[in-house]
Amino acid sequence: MLYDSNVAQIGAPSGTVTIQRLRSEQMEPLRDALYEAAFWRGGDRPVVADALARPHLRVYIDGWGRPGDVAVGARDSFGVVGGAAWFRLFTAADHGYGFVRDDIPEVGIGVQPEWRHRGVGRSLLSSLHLEARALGITQLSLSVERDNPALRLYESLGYVSTTDAGGAATMVLELDGRR
Ligand SMILES: CC(C)(COP(=O)(O)OP(=O)(O)OC[C@H]1O[C@@H](n2cnc3c(N)ncnc32)[C@H](O)[C@@H]1OP(=O)(O)O)[C@@H](O)C(=O)NCCC(=O)NCCS
Repeated sequence: MLYDSNVAQIGAPSGTVTIQRLRSEQMEPLRDALYEAAFWRGGDRPVVADALARPHLRVYIDGWGRPGDVAVGARDSFGVVGGAAWFRLFTAADHGYGFVRDDIPEVGIGVQPEWRHRGVGRSLLSSLHLEARALGITQLSLSVERDNPALRLYESLGYVSTTDAGGAATMVLELDGRR
C-alpha cells in the first residue's frame, strides 16, 4: 500500500487528544510528520517512502532512537496518532536545515491536515519544550520557510529568527522556563 493512502485514511481526531512521548520504535507517526513538514506546500507530492529516502530528509530519522532523540505524538481516543513533534542533535558534519550547534537540538513538527487548527501543533510543541527542559536543554532550533504559516506559531512560542537564507529562517528558542 502506498504510504500516502494511509495518511488519507486518517480522519479528524475522535474524542480527547492526548500528547504522549513516542517510543523510539514508534516511527510511523514520526515519518508521517516529517513528510508533512517537508511537503507542507501540498500540491503534487511524492510517495512517502521515496521522499523520506532522500538524504536531506533521511538525516532526520535514520537510526532514530540514538541519545538525544525525543518525539511526542498526539493520539486520539482510538489510538490514532495525528501529529508529532521531535528534536534531534546533529553535528556540523551531518545535519539538517535548522542546525545551529551540536548541543542545540533541532525541532520538527507535522500535524495531519484533518487535525490542524485545533491546538494540536501548539500542544505538541509545548510538550516537547517540557521534555527538553527535563533533559536540561537550554536552547532549541528549527528551520522554517518564511511563507509557512508555522512561523507565526513558532514566534508565538518564543522562537526568534537568527539567520535568513534562501527564503528560510533559522529560529532559536531560549528555554527559560516560561513556555
Ligand atoms: C504548522 C502546524 C504543525 C500547526 O499545527 P496545528 O495543529 O494546526 O496548530 P494549532 O492549531 O496549534 O495552531 C497554532 C497556531 O499556528 C498558526 N497556524 C498554524 N497553521 C496555520 C495556517 N495554515 N494558517 C494560519 N495559521 C496557522 C495559528 O496562528 C495558530 O495560532 P492560534 O493558536 O493563536 O490559533 C500544521 O499546520 C502543519 O503540520 N503544517 C504542515 C507541516 C509544517 O509546515 N511543519 C512545519 C515545518 S517548519
